[in-house]
Amino acid sequence: MSELLGKNFLQALSNASRSVANADSEAAATDAVAALQGAVEVLVVGSGEATLSIVEDTFYLDRKMLAHASTAFDAMLSELKERKIDSITLMRGATASDLADLAALVAGVSDDLPAGGTVRLNESGLSPSDLDVRPLHDLRRPYSFSLDTLREVSRYGSLHLDGVMAAVDDLIERGAADASSSMLLATVQNHHEVTYYHSVNVCLLSMALGRFAGFERDQMRILGLAALLHDVGRVVVDEAALRNPGRLGNEEWAQVRLHPQEGAATIMAASGAGQEIAAIVALEHHIRIDGSGYPELNGSETHLFSRMVAIADSYDAITSFRPYRPARTPNEALRVLLEGAGTAYDTDLIRLFIQMTGEYPPGSLLKIGDGRVVMVTDTSHGSRSGLVVRSADGEVLSEPEPIDLSDVELLSQLMVEEAGVDPGSMLESM
Ligand SMILES: [Fe+2]
Repeated sequence: MSELLGKNFLQALSNASRSVANADSEAAATDAVAALQGAVEVLVVGSGEATLSIVEDTFYLDRKMLAHASTAFDAMLSELKERKIDSITLMRGATASDLADLAALVAGVSDDLPAGGTVRLNESGLSPSDLDVRPLHDLRRPYSFSLDTLREVSRYGSLHLDGVMAAVDDLIERGAADASSSMLLATVQNHHEVTYYHSVNVCLLSMALGRFAGFERDQMRILGLAALLHDVGRVVVDEAALRNPGRLGNEEWAQVRLHPQEGAATIMAASGAGQEIAAIVALEHHIRIDGSGYPELNGSETHLFSRMVAIADSYDAITSFRPYRPARTPNEALRVLLEGAGTAYDTDLIRLFIQMTGEYPPGSLLKIGDGRVVMVTDTSHGSRSGLVVRSADGEVLSEPEPIDLSDVELLSQLMVEEAGVDPGSMLESM
């Protein structure tokens, strides 16, 4: 529930701050603030107050992590951080005037703090030590760190490879490259097209594939670095083109097609270990195995790392929501990859990837024989295990139960919406 309420509140706050910043329609701003007030009332209905906090690039509603909302409202998260707001405490009966002040503050059009006392800032934020860090959450911190590293590249326009390498080392240290945890985290973090999240997902998936292929640590680091930076050229592509809900126009498309060269040039301008291979991967990741794609292939074949990153890139793109199409299930993504084996992708690597993920990769939501819904969490060592997330009579379990899926009859795979559960919050119970 909290994920949904948190999202509603963030959406309303985002609308209100946009309306307040847009001075030409006062009526629209009043409506947007009223809608925000409505969202707050629902949020505080139980306990009379609620606190939204930001800890390490993740939103929390009281102590509950808002995994999806942190991805979906990434821009809001950055704005709040920029305004040094770590927590927003909302009281029952929050006034329109306090909420309008909050919206104006978030929009950056005013410095006035809400004065009425019904919206309080930075009063009861959480610290990292307040959070229960469960095994999978170990990866969340380096995940956030990697996001920050990429944000810095876009902010300053230059690249410090040492910083990016430190992010990759941190990911490896905390268990990235473990195929199941990496795929699981990548799957729940991919519900919005945000270049940074996509880049970290591709990094996790590429390293998992590298580990599965038997790479040594040194190779893993360079592969991770290259994967994390593969789309760094996109930060120079107009944001509007990337978020365009329709198909791209010619000019936008031409711009998007330049991102491999832009990325390679940005990486070459930096110096550090692995620079050259990372530049090659940035340049080559949209070249297909048959030589088509972009830019034009220079030479006989692309680098092994480019071919690995291309697979991780596609897998994450297919399983992610895009403004112009819904996300597809992990199993459907495997089918698309398999169809492209030998033309778009390296056949041996596709085989390896599917061997690593199993038929239903971690993050898949499946309906099993007795009508229960499970989320696959682990497919390593030839076995398959998961969590029961919904009972046979449709009830969403607040404490998902572990289940061995090796000998369980599978009826169908479900999309997140069909399953009626939030995979992000399911991870909290692991
Ligand atoms: Fe790309």
